[in-house]
Amino acid sequence: MKRIAILASGSGSNAENIANYFRETRTAEVSLIIANNPNAYVLERAKRLGIESAVVSKSGFMEADGVIAMLKERGIDFVVLAGFLLLVPRKLIQAYPGRIVNIHPALLPKHGGKGMYGDNVHKAVVACGDTESGITIHLIDEHYDEGTTFFQAKCPVLPTDTYEDVAAKVHSLEYEHFPHVIEEILSTL
Ligand code: GRF
Repeated sequence: MKRIAILASGSGSNAENIANYFRETRTAEVSLIIANNPNAYVLERAKRLGIESAVVSKSGFMEADGVIAMLKERGIDFVVLAGFLLLVPRKLIQAYPGRIVNIHPALLPKHGGKGMYGDNVHKAVVACGDTESGITIHLIDEHYDEGTTFFQAKCPVLPTDTYEDVAAKVHSLEYEHFPHVIEEILSTL
């Protein structure tokens, strides 16, 4: 069975959804959750789910060797970034070529790049008067939000929508699609 590590910085609702999905299907397993912030709620979720977790500081991530060793020791095949805010260093990308995916809560290439995360993205969508938003699941390379896109799904944005409304629509798309897309990619490895 393929072993997945999830990297997250905040709440971790996607991490939990992915872990639960693979507990049902048994086509893979979320074996490790790593956060870069000791206060990230994703760590509580990991504890509740009985999944091993670790906290790695920003400098630890940038240095990369420790994280790579942690992943390799646990036989991790695939890395999922779910609300992870740090740039992944080249060494880690090279250790898992084509095996690290990210989810971005908008339709890249729109509303991507440094600083475009979480509610900032949804606020930008509303501020631009966009009529649609959605999710982008993509391979990561050494730049923010620029790797090959695997999958996009869209939702309408109404003129009356607040950024909270857009966030809610985008989150439902994430919960619906992200686990399936990961499963599909894993089946090709
Ligand atoms: C998600 O919207 C994800 O697309 C974005 O950050 C959010 C994380 O939410 N990159 P959660 O931590 O999974 O609840």
